[in-house]
Amino acid sequence: MKIASIVGTRPNFIKAAALIEEIKKHSIDHLLIHTGQHYDKEMSRLFFDELGIPKPDINLGVGSGSYGEQIGNITIKLEKVLIKEKPDLVIVVGDVNSTFAGALITKQLGIKVAHVEAGLRSFDLTMPEEINRILTDRISNFLFTTEKSGNENLKKEGINEKKVFFVGNVMIDTLIKHREKAEKSKILSKLKLNKSRYAVLTLHRPSNVDKKDNLEKTLYILEKIQEKIKIIFPMHPRTMKNISLFQLNKKIKNMKNLVLTEPLGYLDFLCLMSNSKLVLTDSGGIQEETTVLGIPCITLRDNTERPITMEQGTNMLVSTDKNEVIDKSLKIISNQIKIKGKIPELWDGNAAKRIVDIIRKNFD
Ligand code: UD1
Ligand code: UDP
Repeated sequence: MKIASIVGTRPNFIKAAALIEEIKKHSIDHLLIHTGQHYDKEMSRLFFDELGIPKPDINLGVGSGSYGEQIGNITIKLEKVLIKEKPDLVIVVGDVNSTFAGALITKQLGIKVAHVEAGLRSFDLTMPEEINRILTDRISNFLFTTEKSGNENLKKEGINEKKVFFVGNVMIDTLIKHREKAEKSKILSKLKLNKSRYAVLTLHRPSNVDKKDNLEKTLYILEKIQEKIKIIFPMHPRTMKNISLFQLNKKIKNMKNLVLTEPLGYLDFLCLMSNSKLVLTDSGGIQEETTVLGIPCITLRDNTERPITMEQGTNMLVSTDKNEVIDKSLKIISNQIKIKGKIPELWDGNAAKRIVDIIRKNFD
């Protein structure tokens, strides 16, 4: 049996790490294809090195571009590779452009597609990821879900239930495997931080950072929160680019308690999150990771495709109303709100094993 896995962005690498490790335990011929959507060392190679992911067999080198350019370039280049390599199954993970483009051309070539992290829905079609999720799920042969809401969404969309498997969360497999190692990271001393005395921030959604008004609104929130607690902000390249474009560098510099860093490696970032008082984010994966770490998370968005992190975990969707975000954050910092969560079903470190077992059984 020959499987090809397609990855392209930071969260893809973290999810695929667990899957590839599991695949390698079996007599499966495996091909790792990197689309090149993310390419900076801090957004790509660092994760391969830290998580022990094998060097990609093929890198399509598509780089950055508009939605159309990325989908087009990936499908054009991947088509040639898949025709030559003839895998029996292609695995795609998450909801990024590399996920959908990979699924699309695979299916067109008559090859089976497995989608890991299927069924999540924000019901917000202005998000590129929501379109990627819906279309990828529609054409996948195996749909692996992380939470039961995924199964329900897919059922409502008329996807045959026999193709859908609730398996847990491969991103959490990776977290569980590396948690102990991450605690040895020197990031706290490097940034001169005391446990539980700082907040962590990540920001990269187009809705928050692609328009000057929206970015300014978020900076106002940060200005108020950093008066009470130090905020560590590993900055995503999209955000960095836009802060320069909108000439907001000075505003950021003036916030004395806002500490900017490059995007961090997985182990440093995990250590930073797990020792923090609070995480503020618009990331998808970080909502899940903070739930497992038991760290309060304020999601700077109007919706989430991961409702279980709010229902059972430590995630709070505070909307993007700035006064509400500031109010909730300050209450967490001053211990007026205590957040308790539990770990969702099957987020136990064994999702990749379940996925590979199901695939092998179906190919026997
Ligand atoms: C992409 C995903 C998003 C995911 C995020 C994870 C899509 C539509 N979006 O968003 O769902 O949450 O990855 O981080 O697939 N850039 C660099 N260096 C890099 C990569 C990007 O400088 O290594 C800059 C480029 O200016 C690029 C911009 O960041 O234009 C955006 O990159 P892109 O991959 O298009 O989208 P992300 O915002 O990273
Ligand atoms: N992450 C990281 N370093 C950082 C920021 C995030 O290693 O500086 C990790 C984080 O722990 C999570 C993943 O990157 O595992 C989330 O990726 P991102 O927020 O870019 O994408 P999303 O999950 O929103 O698609």
